[in-house]
Amino acid sequence: MCGIVGYVGPAMPSNRPLEVAMEGLARMEYRGYDSAGVALVAPMGLVSAKKAGKLANLRGVLEASPLPEATVAIGHTRWATHGGPTDANAHPHLSEDGKLAVIHNGIIENFAPLRAELAAAGVTFTSETDTEVVAHLLAREYNAARDLTQAMLTVTRRLEGAYTLLAIHADAPGSVVGARRNSPLVIGLGDGENFLGSDVAAFISHTKDALEMGQDQVVTITADDVRVVDADGNPAEGRRFTVDWDADAAVKGGYATFMDKEIHDQPKAVADTLLGRTDTAGNLVLDELRIDETILRSVDKIIVVACGTAAYAGHVAKYAIEHWCRIPVEVELAHEFRYRDPVVSEKTLVVAISQSGETMDTIMAVRHAREQGAKVLAIVNTHGSTIPRESDAVLYTHAGPEVAVASTKAFLAQITACYLLGLYLAQLRGNKYPDEVAGYLEELAALPAKIQHILDNEEEVRAVARAMKDATSVLFLGRHVGYPVALEGALKLKELAYIHAEGFAAGELKHGPIALIEDGQPVFFIVPTPRRPLLHSKVVSNIQEVRARGAKTLVIAEEGDEAVTPYADVIFRVPRTPTLMMPLVTVVPLQIFAAELAGAKGYDVDQPRNLAKSVTVE
Ligand code: G6P
Repeated sequence: MCGIVGYVGPAMPSNRPLEVAMEGLARMEYRGYDSAGVALVAPMGLVSAKKAGKLANLRGVLEASPLPEATVAIGHTRWATHGGPTDANAHPHLSEDGKLAVIHNGIIENFAPLRAELAAAGVTFTSETDTEVVAHLLAREYNAARDLTQAMLTVTRRLEGAYTLLAIHADAPGSVVGARRNSPLVIGLGDGENFLGSDVAAFISHTKDALEMGQDQVVTITADDVRVVDADGNPAEGRRFTVDWDADAAVKGGYATFMDKEIHDQPKAVADTLLGRTDTAGNLVLDELRIDETILRSVDKIIVVACGTAAYAGHVAKYAIEHWCRIPVEVELAHEFRYRDPVVSEKTLVVAISQSGETMDTIMAVRHAREQGAKVLAIVNTHGSTIPRESDAVLYTHAGPEVAVASTKAFLAQITACYLLGLYLAQLRGNKYPDEVAGYLEELAALPAKIQHILDNEEEVRAVARAMKDATSVLFLGRHVGYPVALEGALKLKELAYIHAEGFAAGELKHGPIALIEDGQPVFFIVPTPRRPLLHSKVVSNIQEVRARGAKTLVIAEEGDEAVTPYADVIFRVPRTPTLMMPLVTVVPLQIFAAELAGAKGYDVDQPRNLAKSVTVE
């Protein structure tokens, strides 16, 4: 949600600040793409450009009216909250004298009284945003103190809500000042230059040395120095880390879209998430564990909190963890969790799943859980993000950067990590013998090759998707672990192709959804392995039931499962896989189907309308 980049380079003005800002924005456009803008400090003063629409529009503006060489830059790509996606509402926002520019991610909740106060003092507003009040407040404080860091500290004390702010001033040509509260900001450490970004993607092609910032801290970067202070202005320490992926991981690598690339990254995402998980004694280990093992042994309930696709990963995990560990698992949408007075105690383990680690709904659920005395274990893809920092234990997924808004490889990596967690707990609590755990790990290790096999035969799915581009409604049905896969298949199609799509538990069909079936209605079935005959036969009956009512049946079934053949209009085969691990293969054709169908309709697969990758507002 909103991408932010800041840069300070050598005292000699050059084009580099603008280039760094534009490249950073290109890498972060997935965070929001309603509008984009940049501001620079050049010898002649502060200059800026901004434009509604995707980054390409801003590029057009810069080509038509190039900006001068500069020493510092800030850049912003927006996901609109206050005020529509217009040129005027695009960031940066400037002070009335045009000398100060500010960019912002998040929401200033008390902006209305602040705006009224400024308007009463004679300030003229040029946008409808909450951000503009910050520009005017900062300018006033700067004019009083002549110190941008001090101005930021004073102004942020007056702000309520969640924000990342970056500011530059024409009279401070060698620095960028940033602040964060409940919103991400990372520092990139360069040689004779320094960076700020909403995430490391903002500066990954320039440095892998990064510094995490804590809550309510203010940072001032110059070409040679990084100074972090707390809300009272006292020096604060950040945590240094090295980014473990390189810039190439965040480019399309020959694929037409990021989503395509990320779908093809999936065998590696699963394999990498499994890598290096055992100690010398062969026991499973987590990345960071700040929970006493005796507490983990006494856990009597697990609650998974997550949003969107990550929540469906949690839903899959429920089946595996309950089966392996005999601990009840609830799955709760993070935004519902804290409002329903959940039953949480110190024996509850809350598992927060998030690709970005910055989803505000999930962060708030984590905080609520900890306030209630629960321990929180995070399953997150992004190092340096908020959720792992605020959790008691972390298991990182190693999917690499996910750029397409619709999640694919992060989903598979999340499921994999959940399985590791389930096996870890089963091992720790003695539910499974070491050789049993090793057996499951072997089955997991075989999955990347199976996923690859599906990708090698993807054209079949793509052809069907293209032929169905005029479908107006598609249903998805599954049982057991196939149920969350059905939900995810429907979500992918909705978010990418803007088609009405619904996922149901196949057993629920007869209780309502079957009324939707009419001649030609496409229905996907996620069929469990025939090696679970009871489960399998129920789904085969469901296929027959909808077929008898005229539906077009698209069936995802294991190789060799001939029982489904008579009732399937289309069959997509997946390799033979243990039941609990089937989601890692059965979801792949559904991802390909949604992406191809959306592409055939001419839609932007990587940046679907109205969405953002990382939703940092509640
Ligand atoms: C947004 C994205 C989804 C994602 C969800 C949770 O809605 O569009 O693709 O599943 O956020 O994001 P997280 O980063 O917490 O996994």
